[in-house]
Amino acid sequence: MFNEQELRALSDTVRTTLSEKRFRHTEGVEEEIVRMGKIYLPDRIDELRAAALLHDVAKELTVDEQIGICRENGDPELETAIHSPAILHGHAAAYMIPKYHPKFNLPEIISAIYKHTTGAEKMSVFDKLLFLADFIEPNRPWKFCQKARAEFWKRMPDEEVLRLPHLDLFVLSVLEFTLRYLRDRGTVPDPTTERAANALRKQYPNQTLPLQGETE
Ligand SMILES: [Fe+2]
Repeated sequence: MFNEQELRALSDTVRTTLSEKRFRHTEGVEEEIVRMGKIYLPDRIDELRAAALLHDVAKELTVDEQIGICRENGDPELETAIHSPAILHGHAAAYMIPKYHPKFNLPEIISAIYKHTTGAEKMSVFDKLLFLADFIEPNRPWKFCQKARAEFWKRMPDEEVLRLPHLDLFVLSVLEFTLRYLRDRGTVPDPTTERAANALRKQYPNQTLPLQGETE
C-alpha cells in the first residue's frame, strides 16, 4: 500500500514537527507495531507503520489547539473527552490526517489513532495493535510498560488460535492498569476507557489477566 520511500518521507516529516523525545517514542511504536504486525496482520505492515508514525502528531499542540481541532471537526466525543485533556490528542491527530497527510487517510488508520489513548468498546485488531504498541514500545521508561512488553513476547502462544485472546488479554490488562492508575490518583477515568474494559471483561469472564494489581 505504501512503499518504503513514502514511509521514510512520512517519518522525516513527522520528525520535524515533534520534539526529540516524542519522536523517539514514535519510532519505538513503529518498531513495536512492525514486530506485532508480522504475527497479527502481516498484510498490513505499511498501514500499521503509518498509523504508528502519525498517532502522536497532535500531542505537542496546546490543549486549546487540540480542542479547537476536535470542535471544528464535530468530534462526537469532545464533550466527555474534554474532561480528560490527555486523551484529546488522539482525536485531534485523527482529524489532522485528511488535511495534512491525505495520502494516509485510510479509515483503519484514522480509527486506530482516534482510539489509541482510550481504547473503545469496539476495536479491530488494527486498533488493538496501535493501542498496545503505544503502551509497550521499547522506549517507554515505566516499570509497568516494560513488564507488559516482556510478558507479551514471553507468553506469545505458539498456537495461532490462541494469539487473538493473548492480544485481547494484554489490551485488557493495560486498560485495567490505566483505570487503576487514574483512580489511585483521584482522577475520574474517561468513560470510553471503562466501556472498552467492560467489553473485554465480558468477552473473557473467567480469565486471569496476564498482568494484574500493578500500580506503577
Ligand atoms: Fe503515543
